Amino acid sequence: MKVGLLTGGGDCPGLNAVIRAVVRRVSDAGGECVGVLEGWRGLVRGGFRPLAAAEVEPLIGQGGTLLGSSRTNPYKNPDVDVPSLRRHFQEAGLDALVVVGGDDTLGVAARLVNDFQLPIVGVPKTIDNDLMLADFSFGFDTAVNVVVESVERLRTTAESHRRVIVVETMGRNTGWLACFAGMAVGADYVLVPEVPIDVPHLIAALRRLRGASKNHAIVVVAEGARYPDASPALLDVDAFGHPRLGGIGALVADAVERQLRVETRTVVLGHLQRGGAPTAHDRVLATRMGLAAADRVLRGRFGTVLTLRGSRIDDAPLDSSALATRALDLAYYQDAAAFFY
Ligand code: F6P
Repeated sequence: MKVGLLTGGGDCPGLNAVIRAVVRRVSDAGGECVGVLEGWRGLVRGGFRPLAAAEVEPLIGQGGTLLGSSRTNPYKNPDVDVPSLRRHFQEAGLDALVVVGGDDTLGVAARLVNDFQLPIVGVPKTIDNDLMLADFSFGFDTAVNVVVESVERLRTTAESHRRVIVVETMGRNTGWLACFAGMAVGADYVLVPEVPIDVPHLIAALRRLRGASKNHAIVVVAEGARYPDASPALLDVDAFGHPRLGGIGALVADAVERQLRVETRTVVLGHLQRGGAPTAHDRVLATRMGLAAADRVLRGRFGTVLTLRGSRIDDAPLDSSALATRALDLAYYQDAAAFFY
């Protein structure tokens, strides 16, 4: 059996651990694996590379993805002849394809299953943790820890200069990352897309802190949070039509500086949150996901996507209903807010 492996969308720590686990399980079963290069771009152009078990063995702790990634969406590009993807799949002699991606990449996989019955097994990944498919996605824990480490550094300089530092995190349209990291660092305020920003409350909370002799503050804001009444900016969009987010940190910092009259700085953590080695938690989860995906392939359980409920990995039909996104569970926000409300 010849199994293709593809990683698409924004990369995230743990992708290489999935690759390693799929290759290991498939080769132990007597099969071979082939990497599809740079997400769907590889299937559009016919870009493949062999994947040997010995080569991927050391990858468990490496960030990024050996196969490269892209946000190529064959269904949204009029220059792409979609049936050519099936042709390239067949020409490469593939019997199955494991697709590791978020809602966009898996959405393309679902359409290929539907349109051409391609034998696909999907694996959810995202640092945003915004997929209904998984209670927690690999990559998320690592990203939370990057934010925590960064904020701990920022706190010491904020303290020295008696400043407020506003830290903008990723997370797309959800506040999972900002909320978890904010709670873990004891942020003095956390702003998420799911809760409208209440500027007077934010200012009052920061003022109260200074009154209580804490002379600095950390505010964590998710990139998708909306400033009240801010006119929607003309944002660039990616191949899946998602606006490139960012800039809310500066708006919040400006309001804090003007209204609180305290020197304020903004730090946008950006792609730092996606880089570097996965945490032990993400290595374990990604490895389990890779083994589970390979097991589905070996059993011929195609047209499915893995799910994670609690610590249990299962699968569901790979269709658009499975790929819904998931807002931050507000119970977490309420717990974070116990420290600033
Ligand atoms: O979905 C993952 C994510 O990292 C989001 O948090 C962020 O908005 C987006 O990708 C950034 O995408 P790009 O790498 O294309 O700038």
